[in-house]
Amino acid sequence: MRPPPANLTLPPWSEQTNAVRTYLAIRDGVPGTAMPAWRMLGDQKIWELVAYITSLASR
Ligand code: HEM
Repeated sequence: MRPPPANLTLPPWSEQTNAVRTYLAIRDGVPGTAMPAWRMLGDQKIWELVAYITSLASR
């Protein structure tokens, strides 16, 4: 894939992101990339994913 999926565990991504950006990327997808929208998951599950992804980051 171009661009490839982000490695959410490593800088620079893990240092530059924040909870709202992560939430919006999951809910709406990332235009111009292979990242699809996951709106069908609903608010609760998307925020759970934000918490999980945040916990993976090595800073
Ligand atoms: C529930 C499953 C998924 C979650 C929670 C997820 C989450 C994320 C997040 C948080 C980002 C970072 C966006 C940012 O730059 O701020 C991302 C990026 C990306 N994801 Fe996913 N993703 C999922 C599934 C997928 C799938 C199935 C694909 C490919 C078919 C994909 C392709 C990508 C790509 C290409 C990017 C990089 C976008 C960029 O360069 O900015 N993702 N994803």
